[in-house]
Amino acid sequence: MSLDDRFLPIAVVNGDDRAINPTDNQPIHEIALRRLSRRATMRGVGYTVLASALPTSIMTSRHVMAASQGLNFDELAKGLDETHHVASGYTAKPLIRWGDPVVPGAPAFDPTKQTAAAQELQFGYNCDFTAFMPLPRGSAAADRGLLVVNHESTSSELMFAGVADEGNAGRITKEQAEIEMAAHGLSVVEIRRTGAGAWELVPDGKMNRRITLRSTEFAISGPAAGHDRLKTGADASGLKVIGTLNNCGGGVTPWSTVLSAEENFHQYFAGDPADTAEAENHKRLGIDNEPGYARWGRHFTRFDVTKEPNEPNRFGWIVEIDPYDPHSVPVKRTALGRFKHEAATVIVNKDGRLVVYTGDDERFEYVYRFVTNGRVGLSMETANENLLDDGVLSVAKFVDDGTLTWMPLVHGTGPLTEANGFESQADVLIETRRAADLLGATPMDRPEDIQPNPITGTVFGIFTNNTKRKAEQVDAANPRAENKYGHIIEMIPPGGRGKDADHAADSFRWEMFIRCGDPANPEHNALYPASVSTDGWLATPDNVAFDSKGHVWIATDGAGGTGGFADGLWACEAEGPDRGKTRHFFRVPVGAEMCGPSFTPDDGALFVAVQHPGHGKGSSYEKPLTRWPDFADAMPPRPSIVVITRDDGGPIA
Ligand code: FEO
Ligand code: CA
Ligand code: CA
Repeated sequence: MSLDDRFLPIAVVNGDDRAINPTDNQPIHEIALRRLSRRATMRGVGYTVLASALPTSIMTSRHVMAASQGLNFDELAKGLDETHHVASGYTAKPLIRWGDPVVPGAPAFDPTKQTAAAQELQFGYNCDFTAFMPLPRGSAAADRGLLVVNHESTSSELMFAGVADEGNAGRITKEQAEIEMAAHGLSVVEIRRTGAGAWELVPDGKMNRRITLRSTEFAISGPAAGHDRLKTGADASGLKVIGTLNNCGGGVTPWSTVLSAEENFHQYFAGDPADTAEAENHKRLGIDNEPGYARWGRHFTRFDVTKEPNEPNRFGWIVEIDPYDPHSVPVKRTALGRFKHEAATVIVNKDGRLVVYTGDDERFEYVYRFVTNGRVGLSMETANENLLDDGVLSVAKFVDDGTLTWMPLVHGTGPLTEANGFESQADVLIETRRAADLLGATPMDRPEDIQPNPITGTVFGIFTNNTKRKAEQVDAANPRAENKYGHIIEMIPPGGRGKDADHAADSFRWEMFIRCGDPANPEHNALYPASVSTDGWLATPDNVAFDSKGHVWIATDGAGGTGGFADGLWACEAEGPDRGKTRHFFRVPVGAEMCGPSFTPDDGALFVAVQHPGHGKGSSYEKPLTRWPDFADAMPPRPSIVVITRDDGGPIA
């Protein structure tokens, strides 16, 4: 086949390209908000109040104040081919691939002889969120740490011979379904820098661990723990569950645990939910008897809602994992609500409470915020054990005048009462979407990352796209009908930017940061505050990361469907004259999406996740679009983490 045919737009593979919100929470007018690039360059500000109150061990170097200094790299040319590319002066090397040993004793990867038992010990499939967690814990070490990685999903047609015709719904065997379950979850693997630009895995790392959907027991905590709606045949307590599902983005707490977001869990459950007691709940989340992973429910009762109608209620949560204790039991934190969480990013508020931002990634879904009732404790190991079980979850209403209201999802207030089917806070959390509908939250164009900039203190909201939005549904925060390109909104807490910002306030301001697409093409109706090059405009933003200077690094998912170029990473200034002037830095091989950028504390290394390389129309295990990263005849493409370093040894960009 010709290269052009092979590089067709990629269908969304993770099931988040849907629209099932039944409400008409649609604001009415479009007003012009053009307050971009009005501000002077930011002074370096940070969270000095809390930083001074905490031992240095509890604050990562991300909290160290630094003024933004210019991004300084030669822009990469857009393109689309079988491999990855990075800006000149940088090197990008695969560090760990699907199937590589993680847990000591893991067998070498052989895709023709794969077993679930082997996969339990090896690096999982479709990698997404990454975090570099310094060793020792709480230090700012930049040359040795734990790499924590989410494994969001699996691609049957690229993992196994002979199943391509039906994709993830293909005729996979029970053993193959178990391999896929073992390939979901997270990996924790020790890595170290051995020289300039040289990173390696530590194969006998004491904390190396796989957390999987198939075997890892999780505790359930918070207001919904032990509720009848969380009880199943396998767990009469409603307090524990095997596994985590569709872990997409994440975040890192000040006490060095990882938050991992369960996203599109609906697509794993077979059976018609209509005759179950959870029919309305399941319908609102898209469990519809047409699952992407159709075979799982045939092989395993827990994935058939006609047999276990409560099993889906045990997924869709934010989970907390302590990567430094390989024997720790991960916890599902129900206080943060249940929906298709993209990520969970945190900032310590000026009063010491923890604020977690999270979005619900589906067309016409909402942006959320959780504020703990307690303050972040000073002890790394124990003081914050239950902090995330007690707090207030709110949902965002973006008003056209540039204000943003956080509306609390608290049982007994407003419409969240028994009359509407909410008997307790547990019900509000299990059916967060339905509760947010009743409050009149603003339906957004697919909320992906919602992330505070640790330097400026403003919160970036990433909205990938929404081609289903009609002209009569546009509003100021979602200003384009048939939004193919996505946009980024900056949310500004009261108290100004920086250390006086109050992230727990009831009301914020918001501004459009960029409207993605090609600014030279009037049909795109794109908007950047500074001029961008032909390589610099981007589409379908997804994850963001901030380096220690507060630059914005934007990963994309689906750019190929908008302009024939690969997904990748673009970077820009958050403030100053070049605010929002995105520049192309890295791109992925054909079929892949770009996920999970994260930095070492010194910005010396940038880790990125290359998810589903080779995915696309007609691509299969036998004839993949690419055999990246090995390019060996018998080896299928392998989702991998790539480490990027600067050739002169300096910090990235
Ligand atoms: Fe898993 Fe919203 O991307
Ligand atoms: Ca994502
Ligand atoms: Ca995505």
